[in-house]
Amino acid sequence: MVKALHELKTADYRVDAFDVARIRRDFPILHQRVHGKPLVYLDNAATTQKPQAVIDAVGRYYSTDNANVHRGVHLLSQRATDAYEGARVTVQNFINAAESCEVIYVRGTTEAINLVAQTYGRKSVGAGDEIVITAMDHHSNIVPWQMLCDEKGAKLRVAPINDAGELLLDEYERLLTPKTKLVAIPHVSNALGTVNPVKRLVELAHARGVPVLVDGAQAAPHLKIDVQDLNCDFYAFSSHKVFGPTGFGVLYGKKALLEKMPPYQGGGDMILSVSFEKTVYNALPYKFEAGTPHIAGAVGLAQAIHYLLGVGFDAIMGYEAGLLAYATETIAALPGVKIIGTAKEKAGVISFVMDNAHAHDVGTILDQEGVAIRTGHHCAMPLMKRFGVPATARASLALYNTKEEIDTLAAAILKVREVFG
Ligand code: ALA
Repeated sequence: MVKALHELKTADYRVDAFDVARIRRDFPILHQRVHGKPLVYLDNAATTQKPQAVIDAVGRYYSTDNANVHRGVHLLSQRATDAYEGARVTVQNFINAAESCEVIYVRGTTEAINLVAQTYGRKSVGAGDEIVITAMDHHSNIVPWQMLCDEKGAKLRVAPINDAGELLLDEYERLLTPKTKLVAIPHVSNALGTVNPVKRLVELAHARGVPVLVDGAQAAPHLKIDVQDLNCDFYAFSSHKVFGPTGFGVLYGKKALLEKMPPYQGGGDMILSVSFEKTVYNALPYKFEAGTPHIAGAVGLAQAIHYLLGVGFDAIMGYEAGLLAYATETIAALPGVKIIGTAKEKAGVISFVMDNAHAHDVGTILDQEGVAIRTGHHCAMPLMKRFGVPATARASLALYNTKEEIDTLAAAILKVREVFG
């Protein structure tokens, strides 16, 4: 049983029980120096690095199988189609979707959310209706809904959070009214690391007949995802955040909803027949996959999923909880440093500000020490406003990070203090 962060004591840290040295050997990019220092890559919430198995799978696909899918009788096309559709089943099992046709391939989380806004949203949301999001959402789960609300004369309602960065459940519940047509929530906040009680949030929305989209971009690399257990209506995640290729991702949707939704884009593969008078759309999932897709993206994502499942999610979650607890304790103890986002349930992220140094200066000095973090508003400007800061420095973890790297991060932060006081 994996303990929540707030339940962990130093003695519980499991960072030594996990063979991180072996994991690190699988990621070639990690073994380099930047500015003369060993690379410490702590920008995993922005994008993750790729294991050799993923790099090889993509290379192998282009070297041996490359062809267009669903279109050719020739062998290469059949192999490409098998790889592409096989990957869909891998994704289905990864998130425990009931059927593979509920897995829609997209460019990433952002496109997944835009797809739902432009199809389900445009069909179901009208003047005076409301869409509920949260104060911790990033721009991908704000702007598509704002655009929809502007077009339809609907209203965006924002569930507030407390000073720790936790959603206020009572306030969330109060926002769910007969006007609410959709709830869109992050599973894990990209800027704070807060893990939301998604199952409960879905229950509360469903009790009022409101469907829920979950933005799982920051959850998929850290948590076991089970869309049937969460009972969410839509779930979105990006391949590049789970150690797969960029430009690829997944929208899960319940079949009954997807079937009622109009197509997103028109073009090849999303049709059964076309005449100048009328087009008959294809069945799921192809109805939502117009044009030649990112086949190598599907191949790479499937390989990344196999890699993660090979390591095992219990092991990953246990290791990361320990590493996050160690990092939190280490960073919080540094003078002049304040952690932003102290939720009891967190995954993968430590955002912080320093008394006398702007986040960008922190990031620049850390870079000189070989430590890669993200600084800025993390595509979550309203959230920065909520905490009264223009920006934070954000260290974000993955399964290949180590306690020693956290120590290097802490030493680099102390250098910032030497420079800025
Ligand atoms: N959403 C990504 C991040 O948090 C880009 O860095």
